[in-house]
Parts: sequence; structure tokens; C-alpha cells
Amino acid sequence: LEPREGLVEELAAVVGPNNVLEDEHARADYEVDWTGRYKGRARLVVRPGTPEEVARSVVICGQGGASIVPQGGNTGLVGGAVPVNGEVVISLRRMNRLVEVDAGSGQVVAEAGVTLATLAGAAAQAGWRFGIDFAARDSATVGGMIATNAGGLHVMRHGSMREQIIGIEAVLADGQVIGRLSGLLKDNTGYHLPSLLAGSEGTLGIITRACLKLVRRDSSRASALIGVDGPEQAEEIVNRLRQSCESLAAAELILENGLSLVLKHQRRERPLPEHPAYVLVETASNRDAETELVDALADIGVVSAVLAAGANEQRRLWELREGLTDAISAVGVPHKFDVSLPAGRIRHLMAKLPDLVAAIEPNAVIVVFGHLGDRNLHINVLGLGRGDGRVDDVVLRAVLREGGSISAEHGIGRAKRRWLPFDRSRADLAAMRAIKASLDPRGIFNPGVLFA
Ligand code: FAD
Ligand code: MLT
Ligand code: ZN
Repeated sequence: LEPREGLVEELAAVVGPNNVLEDEHARADYEVDWTGRYKGRARLVVRPGTPEEVARSVVICGQGGASIVPQGGNTGLVGGAVPVNGEVVISLRRMNRLVEVDAGSGQVVAEAGVTLATLAGAAAQAGWRFGIDFAARDSATVGGMIATNAGGLHVMRHGSMREQIIGIEAVLADGQVIGRLSGLLKDNTGYHLPSLLAGSEGTLGIITRACLKLVRRDSSRASALIGVDGPEQAEEIVNRLRQSCESLAAAELILENGLSLVLKHQRRERPLPEHPAYVLVETASNRDAETELVDALADIGVVSAVLAAGANEQRRLWELREGLTDAISAVGVPHKFDVSLPAGRIRHLMAKLPDLVAAIEPNAVIVVFGHLGDRNLHINVLGLGRGDGRVDDVVLRAVLREGGSISAEHGIGRAKRRWLPFDRSRADLAAMRAIKASLDPRGIFNPGVLFA
């Protein structure tokens, strides 16, 4: 459908003329994803300031025959927030108010455009912590994190975004507002709509506000970078730490080529002698996290490790891990895979990867890292054409043969929609399509995302 005349004026009457961006330059930032792999064109960018303005904008777009791409911080890595066919982008970035921070109950009500960093700061001020953390914290928003069910560095301790949600408010395709934000900890009144919206990738509704739980703030934290002889030993160490070290809060895998890349990018010295791979671990507790970590590493016979002395050194160690995404993108536009694997299968996949990729592009560079504690690998392949799906095909099929999932945390978006039917059963897909059809019968939300 061609959007009808008068759409701009009607939207401007709701959100104000300054918040309807028509100009090519003003739209540009909203039309390309963080990696630069996905680019498109938006008919307009609309920037509502309240849930009511979101609802009225959705109704106007629906009546005007315009599809909608909801967008938060635009840090998503699967091309799900990018308009490709002249859709209207509804950006939630102006809705960045923390509605309520309740230090007593450890709950926050936040608008969808509140960034992770703002949320974490407010939680700390109230004497709590937010359970999710990752490198895009300055831009990623509450709405985007819910819509992608974001994971990050502490999933093994606190679960993913879905587990942080107490209540949600969202606008459906017909402009109706669903959900509640009353902070009820127990609520078994039928279908759990927050669970449905978590991971829905902007295809079912626009999240406008959420009530989120905060987690206890541990008084003591410690980190160590451990050198290992490969992914197999890395997995073994993490499994043993998981059993013996109650305060284990994060366990991340870095391979030597990733560490070299990030050291070069950040112009830093190597923190410990070269090894084929490394595990970055963190403990957090209200006792003595450092002693707990040192004892646990000694118990399992770790011989090569560097322990961060104090908060500053901890931050410096974590910058190496968090800087990998930037360091990779500084080299080129990567094909990113974000997969999870069953126990014991990581080494199988890693052993096969080089040949699978080389058979298609001998000069391609593979950089693997990830949340080892969750058996979630981030596989990045550099040196391929943006639209070349051949490596995507062999990598994702190899993951499926190992019994893994093609998306552990970033979602399906546009990047992986072709492979979703090989991951989920026919019945699962039919149920998902039925939900989509009943909540968004005209398919105005994020067409082409999730479903091909
Ligand atoms: P966007 O990119 O704007 O949107 C993402 C998806 O959500 C799109 O499909 C969009 O349509 C939809 N959406 C956005 N807002 C709404 C809304 N209000 N209502 C409905 N749908 C909406 N992700 C992880 O899980 N773990 C990590 O460790 C991690 N690390 C990262 C590190 C870097 C350096 C970068 C660049 C990204 C990282 N990501 C990670 C990916 C990304 O940051 C997350 O997926 C994040 O949750 C996206 O939030 P956003 O606000 O940027 O969403
Ligand atoms: C991470 O864990 O750093 C992210 O998910 C980002 C990425 O995969 O590059
Ligand atoms: Zn990640």
C-alpha cells in the first residue's frame, strides 16, 4: 500500500513537527544498523514522547497504509531495527524517563527509551544493581532489550532480559494498550504477555514502558584472565568453576586472534603470556570475592592467570572482552553469528569452522568469542560480501547439526530469518504465525523481520 497523502501532517499534529523527520540527513542515522551490514530507507522517522503519542502514531500509520519499524538505540546486530522498504520508523529514544525507582522493593518503572547505562546508574543510586549488562550500554534501550530478550555478561547469574521483567506496557497494531505496571510479583491471571513480547523483535507491538526487577548489589567483585590451551580446556574450567565457586558471576571465552586484534585496536600491552585461548571470569559476593576466586582457581589447578588488583584493573580486563565487537568492526563489516550449543559440542563446532568457511572464502578471517558460561558463541566472519549468504548457510547448518540454536541472544531479525524454519518445528512456526496474525492482522509491525 502506498502511504496516503497527509500522513506527515497527521503525525506532526500528534508528536510535533520537529519530531517527524522527513529530511534525508536527519533520517540517515535511523536507516543503517550498527554493523553497517543492513541499510535501507525510511519514509519518515517519528519520535513520540509519551505512550499515548505512540498509540496515536500507530493508528495513523495503520490507517495511512504505512508499515512501522520500532527502533530503540539501534544497536541490534541482526538488522531488525532497520527500515528497508520505506517503512515509518517509530523511534522510542525520546521516551527516556525513569518513571519510578523503588529502593524498598527493588523495582524500576522505565520508559522504553531509557538506556541500559541510565538504568544501571539509577539502580546503583538506589543501592541495587540491574541484572543485565553489556558493551552497548550507553545506547541500547529498555524497549530494544526486551524486544530482543538481550543477554550479556551476567546471564549465568541473573538470567536474560525476560527474567528481569515484572510488568510491561505495549501498544498493539490497532492502537490498544496492553499490560500493567503495578509491580505484582505473583500474577497468574492467564497468558503472560510480558513473556510474549520478550524476544518478539518489534513484530507484535511497541513496548512503551516496563516494570523491571533489580538484583542485590554484591559488595565485593573480582576478575581474572586465565590462559588455556583451547576451547575444550576453557569449557572444562568453566564447568568446574560452576560446580565449586558459588560466587561465579561471568565466564567469557576469548581466542588468541581476538585478543591480538583488541590489543592492537586499543593499543595495549598483552596482560599475560600468549595462549591459544583465554577465559575471563568474574566472581561477585558479599564476602571476599577475590579470595573465593583465587581459592577456586587453585582448587582446579589453574596455572596461568592474571588477577585484576582492584576495580580499575578489573575494568581494564573487561575492556578487552567488551572491546571485541568494536575491534572487529574496525577491520570490516562482519557476518555475525550468535549461537548456543549443547554441552560438549563447542569443540566439535570450533574444529569444523575453519574448513567450512575456507571452502567458501579462503581469505576470510574468523573471530570467535562469547559467553562460555551460557555455551553461547559469537562467531564473526570478516572478508565476505554483505549480501553473500553462503557462509551464513554453512555455519548455521553446522550449528543445527550439533543440536544448537541459531540465535542465543541477538535474535533472528533479517539476518537469520531464512534459517528459522530449520531451527524451529513446523508446529512452532505455525503457532508463532498465528500469534502474529491475530495481534497484527495486517502485518504492519516490522514486515520481513523474524518471518521471511
Ligand atoms: P534496536 O537495535 O533499536 O532494536 C532491536 C530490535 O528490537 C528491533 O527488531 C526493533 O524493531 C525492536 N525494538 C526496539 N525497541 C522496541 C520497542 N520499544 N518495542 C518493540 N520493539 C522494539 N546483545 C546481547 O543480547 N548481549 C550482548 O552482550 C550484546 N552486546 C552488544 C555489544 C555491542 C557493542 C553492540 C553494538 C550490541 C550488543 N548487543 C548485545 C546487541 C544489542 O545491543 C541488543 O540486542 C539490544 O538489546 C538492542 O537494544 P536497542 O535499543 O539498540 O534496540
Ligand atoms: C557481545 O557479547 O559482546 C555481543 O553479543 C556483541 C557481539 O556479538 O559482537
Ligand atoms: Zn553477547
